[in-house]
Amino acid sequence: MGNLSAKYLGLNLRSPLIVSSSRLTSTLGHLREAEDHGAGAVVLKSLFEEQINFYIHAASAISAYPEADDYISYYTKSHSVEEYLNLIREAKKSLEIPVIPSINCYTSESWTGFARNIEEAGADAIEINVFVMPVDRKKSSADTEKIYFQLIEKLKKVVSIPVALKIGFRFSNVLYMIDQFYLRGVDGLVMFNRFYEPDIDINKMEIVPASIFSSANEIRYVLRWIAMASSQDIRIDISATTGVHSGEDAVRYLLAGADSVQVCSVLYEKGIAYLETMNETIAKWMDNKGFSEVSEFKGKLNHINYGNPSVFERTQFMKYFSSVE
Ligand SMILES: Cc1cc2nc3c(=O)[nH]c(=O)nc-3n(C[C@H](O)[C@H](O)[C@H](O)COP(=O)(O)O)c2cc1C
Repeated sequence: MGNLSAKYLGLNLRSPLIVSSSRLTSTLGHLREAEDHGAGAVVLKSLFEEQINFYIHAASAISAYPEADDYISYYTKSHSVEEYLNLIREAKKSLEIPVIPSINCYTSESWTGFARNIEEAGADAIEINVFVMPVDRKKSSADTEKIYFQLIEKLKKVVSIPVALKIGFRFSNVLYMIDQFYLRGVDGLVMFNRFYEPDIDINKMEIVPASIFSSANEIRYVLRWIAMASSQDIRIDISATTGVHSGEDAVRYLLAGADSVQVCSVLYEKGIAYLETMNETIAKWMDNKGFSEVSEFKGKLNHINYGNPSVFERTQFMKYFSSVE
């Protein structure tokens, strides 16, 4: 059987499959289950920037929130931060696989110093899920991009563990952004986050959330960019996320150049034990193709290694449109 071990953010993974940030990684029980069923690492459920800001402003909180309800809300939020740090400590004590906490944020204000508490709790790396929603037409893309850069610069000053950025694809030039992240010391990219999207219920005439869970065909939005990003002459690790519903899907991302592959929706649908099936599928595929190590095929079909790189640059279906009546 092929050896599934992989390297991501300088960490040794026994499998390239990582259980991505969600409720599936929110308790010690869930984390143990992930390890027992073959996960290579776990990314903990995200702590939100707002929770951290409540926590770090603890000294002024009681006078700032004189009403009982506000105080309870404050207490719950700051308490959840303590619980989070405990979860990291407990996970590090009882798991062998790397533990990667996650922070969800949209500004570089206040909270960044807190990342050191996460490092001190024993985290192997940290994942920052960042998206700044461009809702102001008077602000340029450069204004928005600056927030990402300031955030990374602040963060890299306080932590020495590897930092991965979980990003969306909504940049004018995602490769430029990746280069800028790299220049500021980002160690890894998680491409691409799948955001909450609004939908419309035409019967109720209301805005409702679009499907929380992904489908396998969503890989198409990510694959090209992993193939492109992994072909750059910079050393920044890549973890693929979105649309991984089988071992075959994981192989696709690895062939495109991902160093690891994160899994979420399919584990909600099929249970955490499905990781075992996915690992088996990858190993069997490797055997069939004569690969004994993941590194032997990782990136084999990326932009630089594939014989015909223009397939990644093409966006229009010209050939198909002309033949499909
Ligand atoms: C119920 C649910 C909760 C999630 N919570 C988080 C979260 O707290 N932080 C985060 O970075 N991503 C979160 N995600 C996004 C997943 O980690 C993942 O990136 C996304 O679902 C795409 O992967 P998938 O196609 O395998 O589901 C969540 C996803 C789901 C479905």
